[in-house]
Amino acid sequence: MHILVTGGAGFIGSHVVDLHLAKGHKVHVVDDLSTGTIQNAERYFGNPLYKFDHADLLTFDRIREVAAWADRVYHLAAVVGVFRVLQDPTAVLASNIAACERLLRAVAASNWKPDVVLASSSEVYGHRDDGNLRETDDLIITAGLNPRWSYPISKIADEALGVAFAHKHGIPITLIRFFNTIGPRQRGKYGMVVPRFVKQAVAGEPLTVFGDGLQTRSFCDVRDTVQFLDQLANRSNDGIKAVNVGNDREISILDLAKLVIERAGSQSEIRFLDYQSAYGEPYEDIRRRHPSLDLLHSLTAHGHRYTLEDTIDHLIAEVRTQTG
Ligand SMILES: NC(=O)c1ccc[n+]([C@@H]2O[C@H](COP(=O)([O-])OP(=O)(O)OC[C@H]3O[C@@H](n4cnc5c(N)ncnc54)[C@H](O)[C@@H]3O)[C@@H](O)[C@H]2O)c1
Repeated sequence: MHILVTGGAGFIGSHVVDLHLAKGHKVHVVDDLSTGTIQNAERYFGNPLYKFDHADLLTFDRIREVAAWADRVYHLAAVVGVFRVLQDPTAVLASNIAACERLLRAVAASNWKPDVVLASSSEVYGHRDDGNLRETDDLIITAGLNPRWSYPISKIADEALGVAFAHKHGIPITLIRFFNTIGPRQRGKYGMVVPRFVKQAVAGEPLTVFGDGLQTRSFCDVRDTVQFLDQLANRSNDGIKAVNVGNDREISILDLAKLVIERAGSQSEIRFLDYQSAYGEPYEDIRRRHPSLDLLHSLTAHGHRYTLEDTIDHLIAEVRTQTG
């Protein structure tokens, strides 16, 4: 089987690569290394099953050739992370929407219908904080002329592109609404909370909680996530579908900070930072994000293997090895 992974040198993408190389599949990665790392690509150099193109999807001149080769496409490339979104909201819109459209056009031109897995986000549900978010719920664009919303808007646009291409060209497409994914190789630099807390706890520095800490998230280990993606792609004969992928254990950010401190046996204290100080500008956080996983479980046979504690322990050990 031939697998194309855009954004395959990134966090989730590199785990997708792991999974398919382990199955003996041929994997082609296209990544501009804007947030991905060369280390995530280099680890496979020398493996004859692996090919890497350091290229921007917006300008990559062999996009049609590469799309035509694939039996399955994971489109994970995107501008992500709160810091990057606030820093350059125009890039979010340009990259996320135009790159997705260019890729789908290339897939459609091939006359071959690979299974396409498109990365969306739980952010398409907007500000809803009333419990389980279901795939049948309305997608919400939050009022307010805030550049922060360029990210969920780009993901809603990608979903619309997926629906349109599936409808017009009969391409089987699965839209993945990722809830917070965590695990090895994720970096805290662009605003991801778990790697940041782990680094702070191991260093004995204060853990900085943005806002009041009562906002909640549901975290899923990336090694579970990629198993779900693989199984969902296998069911792509179902046509077009949107599926929440995550874990439904919900935890407040304040409790997460306490948990990381406890697991690290750290003396770190917790410090609260208002959003303005954290991001350098006013920021509207989403208070609660909790997925309904009914559809995911009805379509897949994978059960979560990693608890939040497992992932945190793993990350703590990793940071200790790197810094020790
Ligand atoms: N990690 C999460 O919790 C989460 C949550 C919701 C949605 N997602 C989505 O999942 C996907 C993967 O996210 P991730 O967490 O692995 O982030 P990541 O930043 O590690 O991965 C994105 C990758 O895309 C590459 N990229 C960006 N623009 C590109 C372009 N124009 N051309 C080629 N490559 C480009 C980056 O270099 C990076 O390697 C993204 O689409 C993201 O929006 C992730």
